Amino acid sequence: MIIISPMEKVTLNDKTFRKFIPYEKLETAIDEVAAQINKDFEGCTDVPILLCVLNGSIMFMAELMKRLTFNCQIVSTKLTSYVGTETTGKVKQAMGLTADITGRRVIVVEDIVDSGNTIVELKRILAEKGAADSRICTLLLKPDSYKKDVKIDYTAMEIPNDFIVGFGLDYDELGRNFKDIYILDE
Ligand code: IMP
Ligand code: MG
Repeated sequence: MIIISPMEKVTLNDKTFRKFIPYEKLETAIDEVAAQINKDFEGCTDVPILLCVLNGSIMFMAELMKRLTFNCQIVSTKLTSYVGTETTGKVKQAMGLTADITGRRVIVVEDIVDSGNTIVELKRILAEKGAADSRICTLLLKPDSYKKDVKIDYTAMEIPNDFIVGFGLDYDELGRNFKDIYILDE
C-alpha cells in the first residue's frame, strides 16, 4: 500500500521516504547529459545502441532518447543485485541482450551507479558479445560508494550515499512509478 501524505512523504511497505529531487531538476540534468551525448555522436555514420538496463532505467531511457538527435537503436537487458535497500554484491543477468550487438557502439543507459558491480559486469558482457565500444551513461552516481576503475562517461547527477526511490528506481519493486525521486527518511 502506498500512502501519500501532505508532507510530500511516501510510505512503501515498512519504510518512509521524503521528496528529494523534483522532476524539474531531473529534466534539466537530463537535458545537459543529452547535449553532451549529442555533441559526441553528432554526424555519426553508424547506428549506436542505447542499452536499457531493466527495470530501473526505463524512465531515464524514455526521457533521454527523446532528446537524442542521431539515429540510434534500443536494446534491453536485465540485471539484478539488490534485495530491499542493500546490494547483495552478486550481479545476476536475469535477461540476456535483446539483439546482437557484435561490432556495434553501445551506450549503456543506467539509472544509478552505486558500488559499480553492475557496470563492471555489463562491460564484461558487452566485450564478450563483441561490442566495438561501450560507454556508460547514468542518471545518478553515488561517488562515495563508487570505487571501481570503469570510466563513467556521462553522469547527469551526483547524490549522497543514501537509498532512494522513484523515477524508475524501486524499493522491493515499489516506487518505480513516482515522477520525483524520494530519499529514505530516517
Ligand atoms: P551497483 O551494482 O551497486 O552499482 O548498483 C546498481 C543497481 O542497484 C542500480 O542499477 C539500481 O538498480 C540498484 N540501486 C543502487 N542504488 C539504489 C538506490 O538507492 N535505490 C534503488 N536502487 C538502487
Ligand atoms: Mg539498475
